[in-house]
Amino acid sequence: MSKHIVVTGCSQGLGLALIKGFIEQGHTISGCSRNSQRMNELTSDYGDSHFFEKVDVSKPAQVYAWANGCLERQGPVDLVINNAAIINPNANMWEVDDQQWSNLVDINIKGIFYVCKAFLPSMIEQNHGVLVNISSGWGRSTAAEVATYCCSKWAVEGLTRSLAQEVPLGVAAIPLNPGIIHTTLLESCFGGSASHFPSPEQWARDAVPFLLSLSAADNGQPLTVS
Ligand SMILES: NC(=O)c1ccc[n+]([C@@H]2O[C@H](COP(=O)([O-])OP(=O)(O)OC[C@H]3O[C@@H](n4cnc5c(N)ncnc54)[C@H](OP(=O)(O)O)[C@@H]3O)[C@@H](O)[C@H]2O)c1
Repeated sequence: MSKHIVVTGCSQGLGLALIKGFIEQGHTISGCSRNSQRMNELTSDYGDSHFFEKVDVSKPAQVYAWANGCLERQGPVDLVINNAAIINPNANMWEVDDQQWSNLVDINIKGIFYVCKAFLPSMIEQNHGVLVNISSGWGRSTAAEVATYCCSKWAVEGLTRSLAQEVPLGVAAIPLNPGIIHTTLLESCFGGSASHFPSPEQWARDAVPFLLSLSAADNGQPLTVS
């Protein structure tokens, strides 16, 4: 059965590979990123049955307007994937620029909060739906030079696992470590060795069926794409 799937940050990397995989399997996508040109290209590539919009997840008014549009146009959601995030350029914590820290918190933590808040009421009303907040191995471990990113992903784990204790039985909130994948974000922290890891398309071959298999029974479980 076709699902309505929301994916934030679908202009590149994991988000783009996921929406391509879901569309190939006949699902309907509501997606966003800050890049209006890429969102227009996705609309012309995949058609009006999907809904791609320029949205900055760190801006609550934009998130709420987009979420209302997704629900009005495409109906109730089955799966929401909070994927959009940034990473700090490698640096010791005390060398991170104040504005970069603020942007990272706004996107990686506050953005997840706004997207959860925007979609959860309708999921709770239907008593149906899976909300996946993309975490990281660095949401469960730590490393030098990415302290602010680790901090944000530990926050995602805490927010999501607490939220899981609040939602009704038909709804799931799940923090998901995607694994290690060769994307722009990974190049930022791993440099040249990022190329040793699978491409987003290779990853999506496992991630798409894995995400589609999630249900209310997985509520609150800190999972990893396997
Ligand atoms: N790659 C890995 O190995 C890895 C490992 C662990 C966790 N993760 C997590 O997986 C997710 C995807 O990462 P990735 O590797 O695919 O990174 P990526 O290639 O850098 O893609 C990040 C996506 O997030 C979007 N984005 C960033 N800020 C946004 C904002 N304010 N509003 C809306 N969209 C925004 C970007 O789109 P625009 O720039 O067009 O807005 C882009 O589409 C992230 O949550 C990341 O932390 C990745």
